[in-house]
Amino acid sequence: MSFQDDSPPALENPMKIIPSIPTMQRLSRKWKSAGKKIGFVPTMGALHQGHLELVKTSRRENDVTVVSIFVNPTQFGPQEDFKKYPRTLDQDCSLLRREKVQAVFSPSDHEMYAADPNIKIHITGSLVSGLCAPFRPGHFDGVALVVVKLLNIVMPTHLYLGQKDAQQVAVLKRTISELNLEVVPVVCPIVRERDGLAMSSRNKLLSMEGRRTAPALFKALMEGKRVARTGEKNPGNVLAEAKKVLSKEKKIKLQYLEAVDPSTLTPVSKIKKGTMLALAAYLDNVRLIDNIVI
Ligand code: PAJ
Repeated sequence: MSFQDDSPPALENPMKIIPSIPTMQRLSRKWKSAGKKIGFVPTMGALHQGHLELVKTSRRENDVTVVSIFVNPTQFGPQEDFKKYPRTLDQDCSLLRREKVQAVFSPSDHEMYAADPNIKIHITGSLVSGLCAPFRPGHFDGVALVVVKLLNIVMPTHLYLGQKDAQQVAVLKRTISELNLEVVPVVCPIVRERDGLAMSSRNKLLSMEGRRTAPALFKALMEGKRVARTGEKNPGNVLAEAKKVLSKEKKIKLQYLEAVDPSTLTPVSKIKKGTMLALAAYLDNVRLIDNIVI
């Protein structure tokens, strides 16, 4: 696909689907020099209402919105579901057209990454000492790398992220500040199904029984929050009550359940307002994450 016309679209202009980095940069540069606020929502596609809420917020708060759709190979481990990750570009584009997004940036792997890359980003310290990081070595390095690249391509003024991926939010906020990137991160709340299950592209991979069981993850977090609200300050006791909910569900294989400070991600010694309870669990070999802030 090639794009000759890269003039900034007026509101009634059709959504552009841009696979090329220079074309995306040219378009963004024009918007920037016209003083436009550019909202950017990075995604890996297989869009659901959780993604669309980020898009709607960006549409409300900016002059133009760009969504990227790129299943980023550098954030998947060798045993992870890169190949299995759902890819639904046409359907995603029709959802985004309905939201009146100005541009979708959807590069190929080869457009984004050199065949012999020499540059990496490595995240260290408390941000990656717990939660998902020990179970997904290199994952947040890959996320930071692709997001920094995307920010250099889209050049947005505002970056929209979901609280669902709380560790990703903490890592990216720190990446932006430590690398002095000129973009304002905006964090949007977790969008859930009616039964409480956090929306995720991976929910599609659950069996019927898995899907019926999955809301127990949120129920466990709610139980932890309820116990904390009764005045229980000991994280061990709060987490034990939450784990009781999960132990009733044989299909759920809990990977971690932690009580952490949401910005440093260090485990807390005392539960207080703002403490985050976060978990990851396997269900039908599908890895699901969720969190709640007390
Ligand atoms: P992806 O999983 O597609 O998520 C894209 C964005 O949507 C992330 O900011 C994520 O937190 C948000 N999101 C997903 N489900 C949500 C829900 N139920 N409620 C609220 N927000 C939700 O996260 C990634 O892609 C990638 O790591 C990416 C940042 C694109 C880098 O490759």
